[in-house]
Amino acid sequence: MNCFFVLLIAQLYSTVGCHPTRCLEFESSGDPDKYLSDLVHLAKSNRDKVVAVGECGLDYDRLNFCPKETQLKYFEKQLEIAEESKLPMFLHNRNSTKDFLDILMRNRDRFTSGVVHSFDGTKEDVKSILDLGLHIGINGCSLKTQDNIDAMCDIPSERLMIETDAPWCEVRPTHAGHKYVKTQFPCKKKEKWEEGSMVKGRNEPSGIVQVLEVLAGARGEDITDLANTLYQNTLKVFCRQ
Ligand SMILES: *[C@@H]1O[C@H](CO)[C@@H](O)[C@H](O)[C@H]1NC(C)=O
Ligand SMILES: [Zn+2]
Repeated sequence: MNCFFVLLIAQLYSTVGCHPTRCLEFESSGDPDKYLSDLVHLAKSNRDKVVAVGECGLDYDRLNFCPKETQLKYFEKQLEIAEESKLPMFLHNRNSTKDFLDILMRNRDRFTSGVVHSFDGTKEDVKSILDLGLHIGINGCSLKTQDNIDAMCDIPSERLMIETDAPWCEVRPTHAGHKYVKTQFPCKKKEKWEEGSMVKGRNEPSGIVQVLEVLAGARGEDITDLANTLYQNTLKVFCRQ
């Protein structure tokens, strides 16, 4: 049971859930019902550190890790964690939008709120997610193409969140959004790393300022106002206890 819970210290918080690509663990554990009830218990008994249920959802780009049927079954079952704990959902969706939205729509009364993170969908997907009352999380992978940027600009700022994700999904020079990046970090290969530098090719938390810069630039919004709105959105969803 090590994939979903990391004991965190200081000002770090955790989610509790099983990622779609890891859903075979429900079955390999030998007792899927117990695996689920253990997750519910973990979420409910660590309220000071656990702020959301997730990542859960669907990922059809990586069916090699877990077949579709297994993902569908255990995504829907994990809504029980949200229902029992009343925590918001931290949701993952890759190449699976129709099934993902179907499950959320027919279970809409079982969760309170949440965010669809690493969003890379269309304007229509934006509308469906907003209709469900969810927020949308943007990172470098959400800003690769002009279509991505146009869809992002359709999200009202009070429903937006930003993230870096990891280990991939940084804003890359080849991405359409990169032209709005202002902050550049000194980078060193990991063998030559020194303090004050990023490790080349590693997506680190400080890169979140670049995501913010792309959003503010593409949307034509004041960067400080937008940062404040995004911060308040995050508090509203994850710090409601
Ligand atoms: C998208 O999902 C389908 C299954 O619904 C799969 O066959 C296809 O390979 C996936 N695409 C990518 C890029 O992985
Ligand atoms: Zn994810």
